Amino acid sequence: MSFAAATEEIDEVKERAHFVAVVNAFKYYKLCSLDRIHKSEKIISMLPITHQRRLDKYKTYLTKFKQCLDVNNTIVHLIIKDVDTMFENVDHSNSMEIGTNGESFGCNYNNCEIASQKQHKMQHDVEKVQSVLKNIVRDWSDIGAAEREQCYTPILNELEERYPKEEYSDRGQVKVLVPGAGLGRLAWETAARGFACQGNEFSLFMLFASNFILNRCPEANKYTVHPWVHQYVNNVTCDHQLLAAQFPDVRPSGDRPNHNFSMTAGDFLKVYTEAEEWDCVATCFFIDCAPNVIEFVERIYSILQPGGFWINLGPLLYHYSDMTTENSIEPPYDILLDIIRDVGFDILKEQTGVKTKYAQNPNSMMQHEYDSVFFVCRKPYC
Ligand SMILES: C[S@@+](CC[C@H](N)C(=O)[O-])C[C@H]1O[C@@H](n2cnc3c(N)ncnc32)[C@H](O)[C@@H]1O
Repeated sequence: MSFAAATEEIDEVKERAHFVAVVNAFKYYKLCSLDRIHKSEKIISMLPITHQRRLDKYKTYLTKFKQCLDVNNTIVHLIIKDVDTMFENVDHSNSMEIGTNGESFGCNYNNCEIASQKQHKMQHDVEKVQSVLKNIVRDWSDIGAAEREQCYTPILNELEERYPKEEYSDRGQVKVLVPGAGLGRLAWETAARGFACQGNEFSLFMLFASNFILNRCPEANKYTVHPWVHQYVNNVTCDHQLLAAQFPDVRPSGDRPNHNFSMTAGDFLKVYTEAEEWDCVATCFFIDCAPNVIEFVERIYSILQPGGFWINLGPLLYHYSDMTTENSIEPPYDILLDIIRDVGFDILKEQTGVKTKYAQNPNSMMQHEYDSVFFVCRKPYC
């Protein structure tokens, strides 16, 4: 399955530095994650001896958590193996030589402000690696099946309904775009149903992992991750924190044809500028990833062919809302619907209160559930 990087003008030095920073976050995953366990161990060692004894069982689990980190670390290193050549049109082999000014990216920095900022940034990036592990469960494990049923099945059913096999004997002629594809399961499922499907994603964290799963996992359930080992709160049992998930639940690069399936790396708004190129755009948990959602709506409209469909499911979390550096607008759903109509779409279906979860730990005492919206729009023929 091919991966292509966006070819728009980019600041090459910055782009390479970002590439290296993401690779380093994967490399330092274990060290930074171990720090958290060491912190608990240190706190326990400073408690009165009677309290320490009462935590004996918990201490044995802390040791088991370290073993889970080793298992995760194996996967994390497999993910970044060969990423320098993963894009068919960009070679990052030289990027691996540039550290940011050659400094170490370890977590044990000197106690100065710059070092502390870098440590903070590394910690933040390692959290993204940890969240990639949870996304692996959402997209590619049996444990994630219930979430996929909630989030992807309505979109896939809609594709089946709009393009029935009886009418579309060659679905390979129907071009479906999945922007914000995450780890690629929805796009892969779409291609597996015969459509020509392209996933688009701009996060290198996600792209490295999806490249590994889609191109280097020929066997089902060959690999194991412990996705919740970094969750120290709201656990009912220690074993829940240790829980193992096998992946991938299917053979992504196995027996299903994938010649009509590709992924592009880059910002949706920069990569997709050609008008009327797509028959259908399917978005899942994506449209609220824009600082200005109107840009997404307008772009989806422009890249669709007349008569083309936009199928959407997700909440309106508006990811940029709390960022002081971003100019975010957060229109509620009723206003968004007006905008969608005003841009020119006909709204064919729409439903609120669609229960959906996103990368949830099924055993956690805290559960986030969205009452998402699902809608289907059509770009009219002129
Ligand atoms: C909330 S996740 C949803 C992922 C996937 N659709 C799912 O349902 O699991 C949103 C994804 O969109 C990606 N994304 C956000 N803005 C993007 C943009 N402008 N271009 C491409 N991808 C983007 C993010 O990196 C992230 O992986």
